[in-house]
Amino acid sequence: MARISPSQGGDPCSIHGPSIQRFKYLNKKIRYMRNKNFFYLQYDKINWENQEKTKINSFVNNFTIKEIISKKRDNSIKIFDIGFGIGFFIKMLYHELTKSYGNIVIEGCEPSLKNYDYFVKKKPLSVRKGTKLKAYNKTFLEVQTNERFDFITAIYVFPHFASDELETTAKKIYSMLNEEGKFILVVANEKYLKEKLRDKRDLFIEKNMIYLDGKNYEEVLHYSDIQKIGKVIDYNREERFYIDLFEKNNFKLNDKKDLNDSGFICTVFIFEKR
Ligand SMILES: C[S@@+](CC[C@H](N)C(=O)[O-])C[C@H]1O[C@@H](n2cnc3c(N)ncnc32)[C@H](O)[C@@H]1O
Repeated sequence: MARISPSQGGDPCSIHGPSIQRFKYLNKKIRYMRNKNFFYLQYDKINWENQEKTKINSFVNNFTIKEIISKKRDNSIKIFDIGFGIGFFIKMLYHELTKSYGNIVIEGCEPSLKNYDYFVKKKPLSVRKGTKLKAYNKTFLEVQTNERFDFITAIYVFPHFASDELETTAKKIYSMLNEEGKFILVVANEKYLKEKLRDKRDLFIEKNMIYLDGKNYEEVLHYSDIQKIGKVIDYNREERFYIDLFEKNNFKLNDKKDLNDSGFICTVFIFEKR
């Protein structure tokens, strides 16, 4: 997958030569450096821990736990949560799962040290016998685990991944799921975010085109103000991009739902192995 940006692909200028090549190379390198760590480092500067007060995302968390995850009929269950933040979802999940499952494995990763420490040191979750809990202070692509999961969740995390990491990420998710495993992806609803940009509740930063198997998709970098938490920058991508990305990587879309959480609309995709 390649990214086309205004400064890269589709350049109508036909000048070639070492200085232009070098400029293009540097330009690419600067973009790469800017994208790499910013998206999780920003969480060291804001107050995501206020999620415990505002309960932001509890509606979608509840839906994910009760309507999808807890439907698995078994005594054992294994879940990996990508970008767990302060562990708000993991805590809700654990309390629900202990009602019906004997053996529980919960793993997750969170690269922001502030968020990770909040979950692991400041407000840790103590688990009962029969539960294995493992938290990695790493980006998802850095995680190494031998476990295979029934569910992998990514709740408002994919918009923080740079487009050139998405195929590797999809492949890694595939390899970490067991044969019946499901991947649950939650992102802000595409149309709802476009409206927020139009009436300037969110602020537009830049527009890129991303490219996958001969098709182009729009990606918009923007920032939003989250009450009592702070400003967050991320990418809004076309919904069909995520569907095509996962279908290309051996998943099929099992279900898709738009949820309205007190006026904030999100899209939940449930993918399974083909
Ligand atoms: C909007 S917050 C959502 C947190 C949590 N999933 C929730 O619903 O409360 C996005 C989280 O993704 C994390 N994140 C950003 N880049 C990441 C990466 N490459 N790998 C894993 N997590 C990442 C951020 O540090 C942040 O905690």
